[in-house]
Amino acid sequence: YRPLRVALLGAGSVGSQVARLLIENKAELAARVGAELELIGVVVRDIDKAVKAGVPRQLLTTEAEDVIVSADIVIEVMGGIEPARTYILQALNSGSDVITANKALLATHGTELFDAAEQVGAQLYFEAAVAGAIPIIRPLRESLAGDKVNRIMGIVNGSTNYILDRMDTEGLSLEAAMAEATELGYLEADPSLDVEGYDAAQKAAILASLAFHTEVPLDKVYREGITKITAAQMEAAKRDGYVIKILAIAERIPANGGEAGVAVRVHPVLIDRKHPLGAVRGAFNAVFVEAEAAGELMFYGAGAGGVQTASAVLGDLVSAAKRHVAGGPGLADSVHANLPVLPIDRVHTRY
Ligand code: NAP
Ligand code: HSE
Repeated sequence: YRPLRVALLGAGSVGSQVARLLIENKAELAARVGAELELIGVVVRDIDKAVKAGVPRQLLTTEAEDVIVSADIVIEVMGGIEPARTYILQALNSGSDVITANKALLATHGTELFDAAEQVGAQLYFEAAVAGAIPIIRPLRESLAGDKVNRIMGIVNGSTNYILDRMDTEGLSLEAAMAEATELGYLEADPSLDVEGYDAAQKAAILASLAFHTEVPLDKVYREGITKITAAQMEAAKRDGYVIKILAIAERIPANGGEAGVAVRVHPVLIDRKHPLGAVRGAFNAVFVEAEAAGELMFYGAGAGGVQTASAVLGDLVSAAKRHVAGGPGLADSVHANLPVLPIDRVHTRY
């Protein structure tokens, strides 16, 4: 098969690692895919910065359009809404498959992007957008597609799990634990995205839409952060055998005399220390899925980090490349259920 042309948009924490792994593992990836994966260009704003991050200068460019139109597969790891949205639409409309790690974009413009992909028969892959290295998108999209998911509970934001874990285990105040998380580089440039639950809400919307085959607008996700949690509350929870975690929860709400639908929310939860999610320490992520036939499933691992997230991106790249080589149909997505996303007054809150 002819070499497949890969464009990389962004060479920061994730993108620089994607470029490195693509170059270092070129022969092995080619053998796995059945075609060479040729990195034709890496788009950034500051070329010298990307060179310092290890990306070969001859691959770097600031001209996105030129690279996008020549690619078979486009990887978007720039982040933000624009110009990422425009670039992804350009790529899809020119028939390329697209891989993105951009949860903010998917949670706000996902429907537009998926519709664009469907219209041209292209695929949009996004394993890295939720919980970094943990395979959770593909299990929901494929492995559990024949089952009925009833509930998902996830620790999907590593920095806030780190903060709460330090408060729990060391008795730190919220401020002291946040200072540690900042020092370790865990928090986003705007920490409110983490501590006010915005990042987790974006991920919750993505997981819920996949699990329930329904559109989940971000503004229907209830959101509450961790900023009001005190060391005293942490201590009281511990005394009673609980730990406070901030969870993204998406669940099916049966009719029970009211309207059936789904409820999606992010807020601090008292969770039994013996629950699998109660044991998730530090900046790790975990997603606990309850499905009708499969029962309880737990997905655990690194939810962030450049190289860890690059692993998920490369997994998507191999899938996209194999689809090109074999001419297969790609992943099956179906937003057919049209379930209403309900207010959260009919959920119960102790797990
Ligand atoms: P990052 O370190 O800030 O890197 C962003 C890269 O994109 C930089 O190379 C930047 O170039 C480039 N870029 C940004 N805007 C651009 C523009 N308008 N034109 C051209 N290049 C542009 O970000 P990151 O941490 O790698 O994250 C990338 C994506 O992965 C985000 O969507 C993020 O949410 C997602 N993600 C990240 C992690 C993680 O652990 N980091 C985990 C899961 C998902 P310059 O430096 O030249 O501006
Ligand atoms: N700020 C995010 C977190 C990064 O703490 O989990 C990964 O999406």
